[in-house]
Amino acid sequence: MLPLCYDWHTLMIEEVANLVEEACKKETNYFGYGAWSHHIYFVAKYAKMLAKELGADEEVCELAALLHDYASVLNKDWYPQHHIHSARLAQEVLSKFNYPQEKIEQVKHTILTHRASQGIKQDTLEAKILASADAMAHFAGVNSLLYLAFVIHGKDINEGTQWVLSKLERSWKKLMPEAKDIIKDKYDAIKITLESAV
Ligand SMILES: [Fe+2]
Ligand SMILES: [Fe+2]
Repeated sequence: MLPLCYDWHTLMIEEVANLVEEACKKETNYFGYGAWSHHIYFVAKYAKMLAKELGADEEVCELAALLHDYASVLNKDWYPQHHIHSARLAQEVLSKFNYPQEKIEQVKHTILTHRASQGIKQDTLEAKILASADAMAHFAGVNSLLYLAFVIHGKDINEGTQWVLSKLERSWKKLMPEAKDIIKDKYDAIKITLESAV
């Protein structure tokens, strides 16, 4: 039996989370289950945390975080434009829950602007939060970056370590001050460990 505190919104978020996690488990997901366990899960966690701290719309932030890379998981060919495809899919998914269109638009803008490399202006606090949470996941899931460097890209020990360190440095520069406060201890620990190993 569901606890009494369960409401419609909580159930919707759980169902969206399940939908994305199940898609991550499929063999057709090029990025593997780690896309959920070492990325999207952390992005959602930090997006919610920042939203609470900064008084942003927690639900919009969490839904956008859960769906921001959904297109890449469904179809590797969508990766280059996954911000656009994921926003489109968010419309499809959230419409099925009869989520208000005004809120869906907020979620879509948040997803559409999550990639700094695309240079699409983030007009809302929720959009800035997702961009930071996306970068924060690199620190929390640093082992997935190591996996990427050594296993996927086949780099040698020092080259791979440097690659991870410079990726983290770029992620660090993308963070809003509140995100830096949350992740600083992790970054310092990783830097000290990896820098002393090369
Ligand atoms: Fe992305
Ligand atoms: Fe992401």
